[in-house]
Amino acid sequence: MRKSIQKIQNFKKEGKKITVLTAYDYSTAKYIDQAGVDMILVGDSLAQVALGYENTTDIGMDEMIVFTKAVSRGVENALLIADMPFMSFQIDKNETMKNACKLIKAGANAVKMEGISDYLIDTIKHLTQNGIPVMGHLGFTPMSINSLGGHKIQGKDADRTIDILKDALRLQNAGCFAIVLELMPLQSSQFISQRLRIPTIGIGGGKFCDGQVLVSDDMLGKYDRFKPKFARQYSSLKDIILNVAKAYCQDVENGVFPSIKESFSLDIKEIEKLENYR
Ligand code: KIV
Repeated sequence: MRKSIQKIQNFKKEGKKITVLTAYDYSTAKYIDQAGVDMILVGDSLAQVALGYENTTDIGMDEMIVFTKAVSRGVENALLIADMPFMSFQIDKNETMKNACKLIKAGANAVKMEGISDYLIDTIKHLTQNGIPVMGHLGFTPMSINSLGGHKIQGKDADRTIDILKDALRLQNAGCFAIVLELMPLQSSQFISQRLRIPTIGIGGGKFCDGQVLVSDDMLGKYDRFKPKFARQYSSLKDIILNVAKAYCQDVENGVFPSIKESFSLDIKEIEKLENYR
């Protein structure tokens, strides 16, 4: 059974760090779920790392639904969250509700929305009061990369940190069950985490957040267009894929793949018939 929101929130009270990873396909989701990760996020980062788009703003609802369905089929134990893509939640409250429901129907247990505004607070209240759990996302918010002027650290001084805390408290009061804090000094995310009832999940936010999230392709060493300073690479799947594909090509070219063991054989009598065929 998948973990409940209450269980995730209790981890903060118990001082247990919350583990979160992104997933975009069935088999990766299945293995990270079996590894025991607490929450799995179908992040809109899939736009870049799985679909090769330039920005996260390039992905739409239809694509998010397909990927959420695939991931959901692999997840038994973790709480599954799906990102609401760019322009799926900024225009109309009822449209947002419909889009969130589509992701829930695709198998997500909750949705995540980036940023903060009066409009968004109102929308989050509408969703949470109607049974859709929402995760917030503050600090660096990739959808706003154009207005933020690039991958810039947020909350870089006391005043900015207090501003982000105020935003986080508004999200908490609107009903968010957790908040991602991206790209900010560790003292800032500590200050914010200590003042919230709900868990904070850091990405480039330092060790004092209540949990951590990584883009799985960064962790696995599979995406090489951009390597954030905060991402720890535990493997180099890129090299593994390159080497395995090279070995395969060599084996085919040298006639050693497929071998007899990897082939199907006709009965000897049938072989004789073919040999005698004129
Ligand atoms: O899309 C994503 O992967 C995210 C994480 C960076 C939290 O939002």
